[in-house]
Amino acid sequence: MYTIDLNQLTPQQFLNEYWQKKPLLIRQGISNFEDPISPDEFAGLAMEEQIESRLVWQKDGEWQAEHGPFEDYSHLGDKDWSLLIQGVDHWDEQVAELIRPFRFLPNWRIDDVMVSYATPGGGVGPHVDNYDVFIIQGSGKRHWQVGSNTELKEVVANSALLHVEKFTPIIDVELLPGDILYIPPGFPHQGVAIEPSMSFSVGFRTTAKSHLFSNFADYLIDQQLGSDMVVDPERQPTTTPGLIDSNDIDKLKSALHEMLSDDDKILDYLGNSLSQCKHELAIDPDLQDMSMDQLSEFLQDDESLLIRIGGLRCMYFDQESMLGRLYVNGESYVFSQQQHAVTQLLANNSELGAQQLQTFAQDDDFKIQLLQLINLGYWYWQE
Ligand code: SIN
Ligand code: CO
Repeated sequence: MYTIDLNQLTPQQFLNEYWQKKPLLIRQGISNFEDPISPDEFAGLAMEEQIESRLVWQKDGEWQAEHGPFEDYSHLGDKDWSLLIQGVDHWDEQVAELIRPFRFLPNWRIDDVMVSYATPGGGVGPHVDNYDVFIIQGSGKRHWQVGSNTELKEVVANSALLHVEKFTPIIDVELLPGDILYIPPGFPHQGVAIEPSMSFSVGFRTTAKSHLFSNFADYLIDQQLGSDMVVDPERQPTTTPGLIDSNDIDKLKSALHEMLSDDDKILDYLGNSLSQCKHELAIDPDLQDMSMDQLSEFLQDDESLLIRIGGLRCMYFDQESMLGRLYVNGESYVFSQQQHAVTQLLANNSELGAQQLQTFAQDDDFKIQLLQLINLGYWYWQE
């Protein structure tokens, strides 16, 4: 289990002073750090079709990027390239554990753990990201530079990389295993491996405002809501047919406002939308056929642990109308209002001991819902 020391700042102090504001170097944020995944296991993941991997290297001074899967790296030699994989927390339990020390941030803000392996000289070049990231240095050393967030010109050296022009560093350091660099959105940065090295980026992403609207529109269409037309039985004749007059503008704006002011719809939309996965889930079909009897046995066994699979997004609201609703992977699961406490347990903890669920162990409705979630492959039991 990883614990983090944020330069002796409390989470509150870190959020006040640095979060979304300025970068922070945290020497030995995780002491005695060991890679949760070896470079060999990591290369194995890059062979999988459904895993998002990328190779980045330079050829004759030009940046090159290619998407996986990859089998072989021998043509790249032993320097100046790096292999990056998104969403490794979905595929490796130990990597998913890296999120645990950051649970002072809510589930909906978590993006993924991106892992990179770089040979000496390897990196992805100077760039900005639109997410907050904690870059945890694993084995090996990497040289990192972070610039200030003043306007930077984008230089699209390769359309996949979104590079920026050279910047003056405000942080210029060599990271050693267990060191952490926090970089808020908009701060240019670049890491170059000094020796073969692993790095683990715990990323947090919000959403573009335009996506909030477009996803809301998708939600309305999916739920067959808002299909009633804007009507105008009180229309008056016009002598300026080319004009959209202020009455009409008000009417159209109030139709938009009306949709946005329905709190239950907005919450349901947010729950559905924010709980959608960013990367494919690693569902194990062998764990999808639990019987009710087996579930009851696990619930009665104090030693057993109920584990949420890596990357599964799970959340709830505490508004009266939402009590008992659990949003998981883009869907809502309705427990009874009395079972609100169990939705909190499932969403707030990535693993739960059976005894934490004891109060509900005899409740058939709860067990039916939990069995459904288990047989969807979202949670599994470990003895
Ligand atoms: C890397 O690990 O090489 C890139 C991470 C980043 O800059 O976001
Ligand atoms: Co970056």
